[in-house]
Amino acid sequence: MSLKAIIHGTFIDAPTPQALRVRENVFVVITKSGVIGQICSNEADLREEFKSLEVVKLEKTQVVVPGLIDLHIHAPQFKQLGTKTDIPLMEWLERYTFPAESAFSSPAHASNIYPKLISHLLKNGTTTAVLYGSNHLSATKILAESCDKAGIRAFVGKTCADMLTPDYYIETTEGSLKDTEEFVKWCYEKWGRGKEGKVKPVITPRFIPTCSDKLLKGLGDIAQKYDCFVQSHAAESVDEEALVEIQHPGRRDVEIYQESGLLGDKTILAHCCRLKDSEAGVMEKLGATVVSCPWSNILFARATVPIPYYNSTFPNLKIGLGTDVAGGFGTMLDNMRTTILQDRVDSFAAVNRETTATDRNIKKENWTVDFKYAFHLATASGAKALGMEDMIGTFEEGMRFDALKLDFGLDGEDGGNARAMRFTRFGDESVGELFEKWVTTGDDRNVVNVWVDGVEVL
Ligand code: GUN
Ligand code: FE
Repeated sequence: MSLKAIIHGTFIDAPTPQALRVRENVFVVITKSGVIGQICSNEADLREEFKSLEVVKLEKTQVVVPGLIDLHIHAPQFKQLGTKTDIPLMEWLERYTFPAESAFSSPAHASNIYPKLISHLLKNGTTTAVLYGSNHLSATKILAESCDKAGIRAFVGKTCADMLTPDYYIETTEGSLKDTEEFVKWCYEKWGRGKEGKVKPVITPRFIPTCSDKLLKGLGDIAQKYDCFVQSHAAESVDEEALVEIQHPGRRDVEIYQESGLLGDKTILAHCCRLKDSEAGVMEKLGATVVSCPWSNILFARATVPIPYYNSTFPNLKIGLGTDVAGGFGTMLDNMRTTILQDRVDSFAAVNRETTATDRNIKKENWTVDFKYAFHLATASGAKALGMEDMIGTFEEGMRFDALKLDFGLDGEDGGNARAMRFTRFGDESVGELFEKWVTTGDDRNVVNVWVDGVEVL
């Protein structure tokens, strides 16, 4: 159902990390093209052209919030989600993950698994997804088409790997470049080049250890020729870092991406738990994004991205959140919560770094991560990483309506139906407090409607 209506009720978004914007009793006009036509507090102020639209009134226990933006998902690992995170990263790839991904040489397998992943994302409130596909062109096209069909906003990449990958999954350098370019052209033909396009191609070198210099350089050329986003992994874990040191003595991920033409304001690098300050500085200067995937980072790197420290030391460094399906088994909500928790024990991340925990704590000042900050990271911050802060992530006139309707009244007036919701409502909470409870203890049961571009997709 395409909305052309006015929603009247409470809207919550987080334009800054420090405070929620709670707008109670507002009228929000959603036009047929999915744009927020007007936001006003009095019905009488509605513009003439909107006055005849149907007004849909929210219940007192319902709020509308921006959809969540997940900046790092491995689509072909979805079947593995929730299992097999018991060994270090490089062994995990070899033993479990490359075999799971290679199964996507079968288009039938892709057609079976990918729609299920997208349903899982939408159900859990993710309205924009940045996805790694497998190394296969046809399965990655199926992923892009599945996103389009389900209505999720997506950035999709054909993963590239021409080295250090098992024979049954490796690509040739030329094949990888050719398939990448074909995928980009195919996406542009189908969905257009602009940021309005529902599905956008992303250049996707898997990570430095599986990509030859020639492949990286070629991918950098394609990214520039077609003005595409780039996604990859950087400074993820001790074993990954050690491997890069063997392959490229004295050199590190960020500088290799930069020299290959892959680092700029359309680059999003996942993990970055072991980034040196000088590298964070380069990323800040060039406008690249750090994608913190806290659940996966703790499992594999036993480390975290020090978000408040980066905010005070590199104030223009873009940071967003990712689930890293299936290296992490949490949803976006789980990763928002882990972001809050990791902040309190951030000192363990300092162990192998240049900066000490004490330095970081002093610099933190007012930057403690709480539920507001975590929600900001999952919405407005993610939008900024994708250059879409004027389109999604918050609610302003002229922006697209990518949103969730949350309901906190599912337990019934008397709190009787406890299984309908994960948390208990006592009846005297403000809607802001109920929203906080959702971020900290709620789940998908509270997500009752999901819209992308004003279209109801769940
Ligand atoms: N580095 C290279 N490939 C992967 C992957 O699939 N997941 C994670 N977390 N890190 C990687
Ligand atoms: Fe990853």
